[in-house]
Amino acid sequence: MIGGGGREHALCWALRRSQRVTDVVCAPGNAGIAALATCIPVQQDDVADMLRVVDEVQPQLVVVGPEVPLAAGIVDALAARGIRAFGPTQAAAQLESSKAFTKDFLNRHNIPTAHSVTVTTMDAAREALPRFSLPVVLKADGLAAGKGVVIATTPAEADGAVEELLPMNGSVVIEEFLEGEELSFFALCDGTHAVAIAAAQDHKRIGEGDTGPNTGGMGAYSTDALLPDELRTWLLQHVAQPTVDGMKAEGTPFKGVLFCGIMLTADGPKVLEFNTRWGDPETQAILLRMETDVMDLIDASIDGTAHALQVKMKPGASVCVILASAGYPASAEKDVVIHGLDATLPAGVEVFHSGTALNAEGETVTAGGRVLGVTAASDNLRRALGKAYDALAGISFRGMQFRRDIGWRALKRE
Ligand code: AMP
Ligand code: GLY
Repeated sequence: MIGGGGREHALCWALRRSQRVTDVVCAPGNAGIAALATCIPVQQDDVADMLRVVDEVQPQLVVVGPEVPLAAGIVDALAARGIRAFGPTQAAAQLESSKAFTKDFLNRHNIPTAHSVTVTTMDAAREALPRFSLPVVLKADGLAAGKGVVIATTPAEADGAVEELLPMNGSVVIEEFLEGEELSFFALCDGTHAVAIAAAQDHKRIGEGDTGPNTGGMGAYSTDALLPDELRTWLLQHVAQPTVDGMKAEGTPFKGVLFCGIMLTADGPKVLEFNTRWGDPETQAILLRMETDVMDLIDASIDGTAHALQVKMKPGASVCVILASAGYPASAEKDVVIHGLDATLPAGVEVFHSGTALNAEGETVTAGGRVLGVTAASDNLRRALGKAYDALAGISFRGMQFRRDIGWRALKRE
């Protein structure tokens, strides 16, 4: 496993439950993953360094968690060595690593998305901006760890945002603002076929009621009600399958998890973005509900047999509540001792570690913005939330932040 966040902890946990997995090594891992796998330090943006670890470990399979190693071309490098790898090639990972590529791709293949233009100069931006109504969305090209999108409400703000975003990667997507509810839809792809895994809803803002700055995600839940059969079929037919078909036709077949960031608008679902990997913290919630062996998904994706796969979820709901460091998302207080991790957890509850490490005294300490994901499953969302918040009450560290309103949209609908 490459990666060291909550998503990777959940994936290691799921791999460990598979009959077909005998051993897991994780690079770099974290303090929670270390209980399930041997952890080895690695630079996730450096293919040569990752290959150094691979040569040392000689794995039969490499599962890549985050976008950075995918965009760096780790899957291509592993393929060149004849090592099975789960995830897209560098060319296919452009669906996440380049917003300009993706907008062109979506338009070429008539996949529903917000109207947009891509500009590479300030002059072109100033010429294009008056054609968009306010608010308007500005997106830097390239991976930006959640910091590349600005929603501007005045012409001056839009101008300033383009000035700030343009130097990041040389182009900016100017995009129509879409109104609606967001959905994270996950499809497993094998280069030819796309099948549904599940849907989840993330909570991107730091503050309750979806206020304050964007984060990597402060919590997520997954229920069957989020993905009625009709919507599942629609998203496969109009988004995931045409994407897989288009990538194949263009000579860059997509394998791995296609995370479709969807806005459910009054005019129907539209693609906000793609990610070419599992989501974090959506994955923690989804894997806790998944009955299918995660190795079935991985093998189907690599071997081109996804059409024969049916991913089964336990009926009911699951939720992941993120505990974050003081200062997050602007900064993160590190090396703070975490208390309460030794408690025995009730059935259906897991605490997945995001940014944690062991200090010299062997204590588990904070090591990033998002620290832990308290994850629970039950037969309905209210019960799952109750279990997660009960478990969370026993955990503490200085400056701990979390949202008490995860799942509020679903509760309101009830
Ligand atoms: P992205 O990285 O493209 O998903 O953008 C990050 C977040 O910005 C999304 O999850 C949305 O909350 C918001 N966003 C992006 N594009 C739009 C849009 N066209 N209309 C409204 N909100 C958007
Ligand atoms: N939760 C959003 C992401 O993984 O990008």
